[in-house]
Amino acid sequence: MTSPASGAGSAGLDVFARRLPKVEMHCHLPGAIPVETYLDISRANGIPVRSTAGEDPYAFTSFEDFLELYGMICAVLRTRADFERAVYAALERQTRTGNVRYAELFFSPTDHPSVPYATQVDGLVDGIRAAEHDLGIVARLIPSINRTLPAAAAVEMVEEVVAYRRDEVLGIGMDNNEALGPPARFVEAYRMAGRHGLKRTAHAGERGSAEEVAVTIDELGVDRIDHGYGILNDPELVKRAVDRGLPFTGCWTVSLIQMGRPVLGRMIEAGLRVSINSDDPAVIPTDLGREFHGVASTENLDRQALVQCVMNGVEATWLDDSDRRALRGRFESEIHALQAELPGE
Ligand code: HPA
Ligand code: ZN
Repeated sequence: MTSPASGAGSAGLDVFARRLPKVEMHCHLPGAIPVETYLDISRANGIPVRSTAGEDPYAFTSFEDFLELYGMICAVLRTRADFERAVYAALERQTRTGNVRYAELFFSPTDHPSVPYATQVDGLVDGIRAAEHDLGIVARLIPSINRTLPAAAAVEMVEEVVAYRRDEVLGIGMDNNEALGPPARFVEAYRMAGRHGLKRTAHAGERGSAEEVAVTIDELGVDRIDHGYGILNDPELVKRAVDRGLPFTGCWTVSLIQMGRPVLGRMIEAGLRVSINSDDPAVIPTDLGREFHGVASTENLDRQALVQCVMNGVEATWLDDSDRRALRGRFESEIHALQAELPGE
């Protein structure tokens, strides 16, 4: 998978990384709203942002501070039209900056306590349909449990998802601060989701815990792991995940911040099925083209390894088999054409 990248850091690899067609499966809608859209909606709803004039409204100083900011961004979305506008703007940015063709987006129902679940989803579906019509991007939704809440709140969220089914909602996720929400707390919510045919993913091992990854795999029955970097501390668990072909949604910038060292290359080398994603691209700020080039240049991945990460992502999507096959075929021919257009280093 990895080989010395002779052109790492060169403009050639940058252009190739940017122009690759991509899927995105680890992206939180509130963290993907362009800052101008966020400011407009907050003004329209009369909700103050935490920065003063001239300061970056998306500045944050630590993970905990980021999570506080994330909650404040959630708080400005009040109406169906706000959700529609936010997701449309996020998808426009993803298309333009990362050449993203298919996205499964997290949103955080319990972080909008004054907005009924149905209003949130209906607005998001409106925006997704408009973006597909105008921009060609296809998006689906993953309501995500805020793990700092009690188990009963997670169960209630899953009950709402089940009671108000829309085809665009494919499964559930779980995010926020792992230190305040151990995975074992959410067994009942995950079982209920599974019983109702929902796919399941969860953040785990974002800051290095292998145990959180193990419990998430063994007790929550997940189809994917988000981040998962801590798995590198447990070789036996790595082997089990490789044998099962369990997908991992890695995020380059966040992995460096949270782990303090490059880890995605080592996960790929270990044989894990890693895709590359952008997490909270507008807030960080980053985009998926930058994430791909960042991985290549810091982890010594060559073009072929980047293509493998794209295809790992395609295989890990929650599309049905025929749609996944169609996406795979489209990506293979586009990537072939891109390789011919930009002869490799
Ligand atoms: N980790 C945990 N919680 C989050 C994240 C993340 O990467 N992004 C938004 N909420
Ligand atoms: Zn995340």
